[in-house]
Amino acid sequence: MRIDKLLSNMGYGSRKDTKKLLKSGAVKIDDQVIKDGKFHVDPNVETVTVHGEVVNYKEFIYLMMNKPDGVISATEDLNQETVVDLLETEDFVFEPFPVGRLDKDTVGLLLLTNDGKLAHQLLSPKKHVPKVYYAKIDGHVTVKDVEAFQKGVILDDGYLTKPAKLDIIKSGEESEIELTITEGKFHQVKRMFESVDKRVTFLMRIKMGALALDETLRYGEYRELTDEEIGVLFGEGEI
Ligand code: URA
Repeated sequence: MRIDKLLSNMGYGSRKDTKKLLKSGAVKIDDQVIKDGKFHVDPNVETVTVHGEVVNYKEFIYLMMNKPDGVISATEDLNQETVVDLLETEDFVFEPFPVGRLDKDTVGLLLLTNDGKLAHQLLSPKKHVPKVYYAKIDGHVTVKDVEAFQKGVILDDGYLTKPAKLDIIKSGEESEIELTITEGKFHQVKRMFESVDKRVTFLMRIKMGALALDETLRYGEYRELTDEEIGVLFGEGEI
């Protein structure tokens, strides 16, 4: 790839910025100073340095975010803040996108990547990747609801959901539950509870496939996945 493209992908600024950087003589490929942005480099074979610091090139980025309330799961929007707006420039330059959508008022685990293959794998209905949600529910959640979700419930548009595992953490005037679903219909969790005449008042995704939300991340914070987590996501094992 072109050296100027590699540098801008790695967060060294726009084409104009990288042109300046190259012109200043700060960039070397192996031991040779390179000033021409059109120069081609193979980052897997050659070593690129900027001011003597090695540039560890990577093609893909994998981020785990604890999505906050009030932000939409999109890459851009004219009026509303998006999850991508929350990224640092050094991550934004990789052009990651959210893998699937959480509602504006849903919080928790959101994966962002520029790896279309992984995104497709995780979202494909054929793969049945389980997603686990924690929710607060207005009203008593009962064993009857557990059985109904296990059988599948009919949503407002007539769709019969696949079997889902409902675990009651606390049942009361306000209940707390964990729900595991293997599909991702629009507003699915909220609509499943509507089908049993209950309302979700708080919704947080805590797991996607084998990947669990890092509980040290506060709302709006994110971090790169570890190599182990990336491997697990691709292999769909357990962490
Ligand atoms: N189900 C919902 O209702 N909303 C979400 O954001 C995710 C799953």
